Amino acid sequence: MSLVPSTSPFASATPASSATSAPAAPSALGLVNAANRPQLSDSLFVKFASLIYELSGMRFEANKSYFIASKLDLRVQALGLKNFEAYLAYLESPSGRSEYGFLIDEITINETFFYRHEPQLQAFRDEVLMPMIFARKAQRQMRFRILSAAASTGDELYTVALMLKDMGLVGKDMTFELVGTDICHDALQKARAGVYRKYNIRNVPASILQQNFDHAMGTGGGTETWTIKPDIKSMCRFQEGNLMDTTRTSALGKFDIIFCRNVLIYFDEASKEKVVRNLSSILNDDGFVLLGHSENIYSQRHILRPDKTHTNAIAYSKAPPGTPKYNV
Ligand SMILES: C[S@@+](CC[C@H](N)C(=O)[O-])C[C@H]1O[C@@H](n2cnc3c(N)ncnc32)[C@H](O)[C@@H]1O
Repeated sequence: MSLVPSTSPFASATPASSATSAPAAPSALGLVNAANRPQLSDSLFVKFASLIYELSGMRFEANKSYFIASKLDLRVQALGLKNFEAYLAYLESPSGRSEYGFLIDEITINETFFYRHEPQLQAFRDEVLMPMIFARKAQRQMRFRILSAAASTGDELYTVALMLKDMGLVGKDMTFELVGTDICHDALQKARAGVYRKYNIRNVPASILQQNFDHAMGTGGGTETWTIKPDIKSMCRFQEGNLMDTTRTSALGKFDIIFCRNVLIYFDEASKEKVVRNLSSILNDDGFVLLGHSENIYSQRHILRPDKTHTNAIAYSKAPPGTPKYNV
């Protein structure tokens, strides 16, 4: 799946291996300010921010200029370019398309960990999944598809797999298909590898950790790691996916439960509306969407509306077709 929405002028961009020129020191290139930090002029910030918005839907305001500059500087150095202007010119050139993936990989914030926000996971288990299983049992339809949209390094999707196993649901008369998508190639590679550090696994209950991870101390000063075991890994599939891309999102097929947590915070209302519409289009009629606990899609409640029966966290279900957009 390509990074760039198929309808965008940037469509068909794929990341290539980065240029190999020796990195140039930022101070030698006039990239640093008095505080020794790379700095973007206002006009360059606007240009980079609009490209990032076009590619990903993430909206960065001027107060994030230092953050963006520090990330762009890594690419400037990796490519051995002179300055931010040269990097922008490269991105705008025909060969610059192969750089989009690297740019987005730097800009995305991949913060995630296993068993993130326990109350919501309880709601997923007791108030979303279990009632769905009972309803499906009656219909003799026991196949469930669960999506972790913006899956980052896979912690969220593997958490779902671990919970299903812990609930004794794996290997019964039901099938679970677990899919994780993200725009960041680097994060997806880590998800597929399934090797984690202490920070990521700190919330995993001890018995689950012991049963489902291979622990390595990290010899010779190496890092202590926990690798997810093959039975859990084989339950999960990761692929590139841009939430803004309507065509490719719909190619994922329909899901019963969609986790889309801690990514809408980076989007403005227009991007959010597009993403919510895209997610709604791949949600089964009796399905639910779970967002991060600090996120809301109040302005998009004509598409996905809060389902009040879930007490521990809000689960969103499809608004009836034809629901008008609310003014506030
Ligand atoms: C903070 S992480 C959230 C990870 C996980 N869902 C969680 O809550 O722990 C946000 C993720 O959103 C991804 N992301 C940002 N824009 C995206 C887009 N347009 N399409 C898909 N993923 C995107 C980033 O690459 C990053 O991995």
